[in-house]
Amino acid sequence: MCGIIGYVGTDDAVGTLLGGLANLEYRGYDSAGVAVRDSDITVCKREGDISALEAALDGRSLKGTLGVGHTRWSTHGEPSDRNAHPHTDCRGRVAVVHNGIVENHDELRGELEAAGHEFTSDTDTEVIPHLIEAARRAGDDHETAFRRAVDRLEGSFALVALFADDDRLFATREGSPLVLGLDGDEFYLASDVPAFLEHTNDVVYIEDGDVVVLSRNGPTVSSPLGENVTPDRKTVDWNPEDATKRGYDHFMLKEIHEQPHAVRQSIQGRIPDSREYVALDEFEPGEFDDVRDVQFVACGTSYHAALYARQFLLDRGIPSNVHSAGEYATNPPPLEEDTLVIGVTQSGETADTLASLRYAQAAGARTLAVTNVVGSTAAREFDDALFIRAGPEIGVAATKTFSSQVVTLALLSEVLTRDRTGSYSDQLDTLLAGLQALPDQFESLLGTNEVSHLLESYRGQDAYFFIGRAEGYPVALEGALKFKEITYEHAEGFAAGELKHGPLALVGPKTPVFAVFTGRNVEKTLGNVQEVKARGAPVIGITHQDHDKVTAVVDDVLPIPAAAPCLRGLLANVQLQLVSYHVADALGRDIDKPRNLAKSVTVE
Ligand code: F6R
Repeated sequence: MCGIIGYVGTDDAVGTLLGGLANLEYRGYDSAGVAVRDSDITVCKREGDISALEAALDGRSLKGTLGVGHTRWSTHGEPSDRNAHPHTDCRGRVAVVHNGIVENHDELRGELEAAGHEFTSDTDTEVIPHLIEAARRAGDDHETAFRRAVDRLEGSFALVALFADDDRLFATREGSPLVLGLDGDEFYLASDVPAFLEHTNDVVYIEDGDVVVLSRNGPTVSSPLGENVTPDRKTVDWNPEDATKRGYDHFMLKEIHEQPHAVRQSIQGRIPDSREYVALDEFEPGEFDDVRDVQFVACGTSYHAALYARQFLLDRGIPSNVHSAGEYATNPPPLEEDTLVIGVTQSGETADTLASLRYAQAAGARTLAVTNVVGSTAAREFDDALFIRAGPEIGVAATKTFSSQVVTLALLSEVLTRDRTGSYSDQLDTLLAGLQALPDQFESLLGTNEVSHLLESYRGQDAYFFIGRAEGYPVALEGALKFKEITYEHAEGFAAGELKHGPLALVGPKTPVFAVFTGRNVEKTLGNVQEVKARGAPVIGITHQDHDKVTAVVDDVLPIPAAAPCLRGLLANVQLQLVSYHVADALGRDIDKPRNLAKSVTVE
């Protein structure tokens, strides 16, 4: 939800900012802008994605080695040039980029307008440069003015301010991510590491409330009260190449093809040769033995990964509930000290998931974040963090992180079983062997392009349905989410048995049904397939190669290798990812930047 970047260094700021913004575009692409300081501040901003900004900058020389940039996902005010960031004060003496929401902006705006400030946008952000300006006019120095303005803000924010008469950047955060990158005499501030990963992996994750003053000599970090904070420098083990398309047309396709590698990383060092135990070093044996209730909270694709994890636990005799994080904090279930609340969040920054975990923590439950991003808010704020190690995911549609989440949660399910019952489940060896085989199975699946033959037959239909049972159910939901998200076609996922309780009314010859077969309850799902076929719907079965029963009934087959049954859903999911990708591509959709969406949803 909006990406911000700041740069202080020796290079041309515009080029550096544009490069960074391109890697943050997954956070929003309604408009983009930069402000650069030379002897004065120059701002250039445009509605549309970075290419519109680049076109606007073409031929203009914005000199300077100090600047800020922004890529927007609109909250307050339509996407337009005037609502694009950076926003400035009346005289253009301070420029601000902001990610988050200033909740008390109406009140602040009223107050500022009454004092004579003229606003030029509909955004909540614009109050910030005006507040800073007011403080400067009242005689505050730059840092005091910045702090005074920030003290007035309610809501969530990460922001960077640039002054016309000072060669430092001022930044802070409250609930939205902000990370500092250090590279010799060049320094970066950004919403996320990929913004500057091609320059450095030496980072400091800024804590809520801390203020960064970034000069050419480096950063100083201080607490809200002004006390010096020693920056905790970390090295991110992501490869700069990870933030590029590596020759693929889209990040999504690249990330689909990275799944073998992502899963290898997820299991690396966690499965011993003997396969007699699970080595999740994050947890001491017995750590969870007092857990009586397991609740998952998550959104979107991560919610589907949590549903998949519920199946692993169910198969081990452990009940759990999966909650939509958007509902949890405002409509919570009972929580006790022996409740374990597992927040599944790729980015570690999803506001709904963070709010749920915060609620659970405040209510005395134990909280665990399962995330991909080491320095994320989720990783730092809760009792425990478990990393899925998928590497950075840039495409807005989550792909490889789903696989890595499920694999990591599979390992966790065995750890919970061990602590709860005193021993690993009798499925341990099958699961671990299955996980070890999975990367090669992904590779063999991705080596064939089995979906392209479907494109012509199934283009331009009324709706697309996805059905499955057990671990096939979250895969059906995920298949439908991916399909609607990037093709903009109507797609719905159902538990296969639910069709006859209503959705069947919509089924006809122009509603292709994708049926996920994992080997469990095949007969029952085939019964549901017969029901839709009887209404004329074409059926595409996703099933392992030799499943004659299925292939005899369905119209088309998307084959998957015969993996461990509990993991077949992951292979089926890859096939469905490819279906969505190729249909969206054929329809000419902007696959990495689907309309109205952003990858990291940092507002509730
Ligand atoms: C869909 C997608 C979203 C995210 C959801 C949660 O392709 O990417 O549904 O899964 O916004 O994001 P995280 O996992 O970062 O909490």
